Amino acid sequence: MVQKNLMSGMRPTGKLHLGNYLGALSNWVKLQEEYNCFYSIVDWHALTTGYEDTSEIKVNIKEMLIDWLSAGIDPEKSVVFVQSQVKETAELHLLFSMITPLSWLERNPTYKEQLKQLEGRNITNYGFLGYPVLQAADILICRGEVVPVGEDQLPHLELTREIARRFNYLYEPIFPEPKALLTEAKVLPGIDGRKMSKSYQNTIEMSDSPDEIRRKTKLMVTDPERIRKTDPGHPDICSVFAYNKLFIKEHIEDIRKECEKGKIGCVECKRRLAESIINEMRPIYEKRKELENKPSILEDILIDGSKRAQKVASETIKMVREAMKI
Ligand code: TRP
Ligand code: SF4
Repeated sequence: MVQKNLMSGMRPTGKLHLGNYLGALSNWVKLQEEYNCFYSIVDWHALTTGYEDTSEIKVNIKEMLIDWLSAGIDPEKSVVFVQSQVKETAELHLLFSMITPLSWLERNPTYKEQLKQLEGRNITNYGFLGYPVLQAADILICRGEVVPVGEDQLPHLELTREIARRFNYLYEPIFPEPKALLTEAKVLPGIDGRKMSKSYQNTIEMSDSPDEIRRKTKLMVTDPERIRKTDPGHPDICSVFAYNKLFIKEHIEDIRKECEKGKIGCVECKRRLAESIINEMRPIYEKRKELENKPSILEDILIDGSKRAQKVASETIKMVREAMKI
């Protein structure tokens, strides 16, 4: 059976946390069985908002690659590459920029939102407005038909479909209209109870050592009304419990009852959680240690990945030039 092409990417902005792992990466790993996967570390996209300080990009690319491989992204099965190493993407981006009306980009909700959020930083640049055009080029250069993304990316994917449709209508129908594969939202709070986010410094990272995981779980906020162990707890408002649901799946109902009846203390509950996270992440942690000592393997993987991506990309560009008669 011919597998469909699947494409997705992440910006190399730092180490991935458990929310990224459970929400996106572990899903990417599973999808490798069903699709012909292209996974891109999108360093040009990282520049759209972070063009001033580029000192961390190379390190972040390497960290991201280690995160991916240790989680089980298999470079034999999937094409793993760095965006800027496949120059055909830049050509496609330029050509798409000719056929994309400005109004499509200006009405993009993520654009408007980020402009507000990042107020104070100067991101009124051309590249930032064109972020979704570059994303469309990422997906369509690989002729991606399926794109696993979170809900926040749906407007971008809709734009990709509109650009594909417009190209197909103006020239020749060579592009698929890629479909989003919505990742089931698994909301993992940060250790302070807010959304897990690097900018809040409340993350547990995929690369955290067992001791670091123990230290951070001890700091986690719980049900604020619970002072003594015998006080009945409210697991549904407790961040530790949100983690328990994902990491201690089998005994979850027991823990709920023990908490509600005041039979388990938060200290013990956190200790159990820490050990479950450590257990689940152990193989990943060990794989990471192995990879960290083999920088040449990492380089080889990216060289091979960009060659394989380029093979598809150059076929696409050839079709595009023919369709556009240039
Ligand atoms: N915009 C995506 C994000 O912020 C990253 C991204 C870039 C992407 N190119 C892509 C995702 C292509 C899917 C497909 O998460
Ligand atoms: Fe949360 Fe566990 Fe404490 Fe209950 S016992 S409040 S679930 S940490």
